[in-house]
Amino acid sequence: MASNFNIVEEIKSRCNIVDVVGRQVALKKTGYNHKGLCPFHNEKTPSFVVSEDKQIFTCFGCGATGDVIEFTKRYHNLDFQGALEKLAEECGLELQNTGFGAEGKKAQLYEINRETASFYHKRFSMEPNSAAAYMRSRELGPSVLKKFGIGYADAEWQSLFDYLSSKGYDRKLLLSLGLVSESGGKIYDKFRDRVVFPIISTSKKVIGFGGRTIGNGTPKYLNSQESPIFQKKNSLYGLNLTREDINREDCAILVEGYMDVISLYQYGIRNVSASLGTALTESQAMMLKRYTDNVILAYDADEAGQAAALRGMDILYAAGCNVKILQIPGGKDPDEYIKENGKEAFSALIKQALPFMDYKLSNIKKQVDLNTTAGNVFFLKEAARAMKCISPVEAETYIKKVASETGISEGAFRLEVFGSGFVTVPKNWENTEGRRKGGIDRSSLLELHLIRLMLLRSSYVPLIEPYKDFFETVSCYRIYEIIRSLYKPDEEIDLKQLQDSLDEESRAVLAHTLETVHIANRDKQVFEECVSHIRTIKKGKREEELIKILSILDDEKDSEKILELSKELMDIQRERYKGARNEL
Ligand code: GTP
Ligand code: MN
Repeated sequence: MASNFNIVEEIKSRCNIVDVVGRQVALKKTGYNHKGLCPFHNEKTPSFVVSEDKQIFTCFGCGATGDVIEFTKRYHNLDFQGALEKLAEECGLELQNTGFGAEGKKAQLYEINRETASFYHKRFSMEPNSAAAYMRSRELGPSVLKKFGIGYADAEWQSLFDYLSSKGYDRKLLLSLGLVSESGGKIYDKFRDRVVFPIISTSKKVIGFGGRTIGNGTPKYLNSQESPIFQKKNSLYGLNLTREDINREDCAILVEGYMDVISLYQYGIRNVSASLGTALTESQAMMLKRYTDNVILAYDADEAGQAAALRGMDILYAAGCNVKILQIPGGKDPDEYIKENGKEAFSALIKQALPFMDYKLSNIKKQVDLNTTAGNVFFLKEAARAMKCISPVEAETYIKKVASETGISEGAFRLEVFGSGFVTVPKNWENTEGRRKGGIDRSSLLELHLIRLMLLRSSYVPLIEPYKDFFETVSCYRIYEIIRSLYKPDEEIDLKQLQDSLDEESRAVLAHTLETVHIANRDKQVFEECVSHIRTIKKGKREEELIKILSILDDEKDSEKILELSKELMDIQRERYKGARNEL
């Protein structure tokens, strides 16, 4: 039995990175290297370079880099073992299950699911049955049903169980996949008398199922339980079929349900996917981002759908997507709407989709009467709150727009948005502004000291939390975020775990910190110095901010605010003056 190490080396030597990447990305030979469009971010001019010599890829646009295994991991959204398996299969290398216990089991689970999907699909397509009749009544044609591998689970108690048992599969595995359940010593199929929707990963593995009642029974849908191969939060329905369309159109339409995906697909709107009835997760957002940065949420018009849309768009925005909201008239879902009105009408809705901030603002506007003072105040507060999550530059555009639409003064608005300590820096400014890119040389000593303190004694983690916005470089902020996620009261931070969770650049910053920052037992003093330093920086920032706000306020309308802010400014300046005198 070869060791893992040998297998990794063996795979690397057998799989030429140029071939592996070349199957997914159009590569051109340029000098020593090969070049193409980066599959990990959107770009129009190629900055993705593959070196045959070094057997690595590097993108000069987004910084992605690694070997053939790393490429396979990222491109197909696999873990390390999954990537090994895939490459091993491609280069005809036998991976013995014993060496990869968990993977061997997973492979078996995938196989069972595939058998199951094919069992249900045969039943659906080969002989007359109620599921096929039902799907016909929903106006879905045979080709789209075949494409999505739709199946029929009959009304018997053990059809699937008998079939899979006859194939020799262990009932424990069937139970762990939730295909069958046990009750009173008897085994029953989970899906009975239902239309079955196989859920297939982008690496074409059947990871789970959804089952809809035929007609009006409850619950309307059953979904596979979570299993080693199925985590709802990491799955998007239909993406296996639609990711190329999403990539080509540079836009994904996200819907709520299975039926919406299939129906839109049949009508020729193919850049779709569904988040399976759960609230959209960060990891789903990252999956979509592999194919596009532009996402249109087309959730149901009902209250639940709209609430889900509001939550979903924040998650997508935080992941760095441009989000729009498509609104469907008449309380319909995408499937109902396109059936009634056709593809052109739906495409028109796509064109009219609102950018997410416009949608939020229009939502707030709907709740108030702008002709009343109370209405104005409420709108101002809520709109400003919504805008705190976007970058100052974007906010500025909206401030102007909202002011001209509502008659609320621009200055008052700006004050409300920026005024009250505009310090929280959302993640996705990283790539635009806010945090500085770059590693060690860009990080301030202050940041490095804060990191060192938390690693010295984890009790500093909660103490430093209020100052997290002072991690101004991307790397330091990443390190901070991971430390915080690892933090448990009364336990020191596990350095190994921290290192493993970091990207290369941040890891280098961490190493540098550990090497160069020595605190020993002066931690209390160092912490106090950091805090005092931060206070000074904060005051300086506030001073700048105040001067800016005061310069744009309207002398007459905002006279009270001007008075209040001038006082604050004077206080800050007086204190600094005093500080300077004390130092002399
Ligand atoms: P149709 O009613 O057949 O058009 O299906 P739909 O896709 O429009 O369903 P709906 O809008 O009611 O729900 C959206 C999605 O939420 C579904 O596709 C399911 O993934 C999920 N869902 C809906 N009802 C249930 C349920 O009863 N249980 C579970 N687990 N999920 C559900
Ligand atoms: Mn529906």
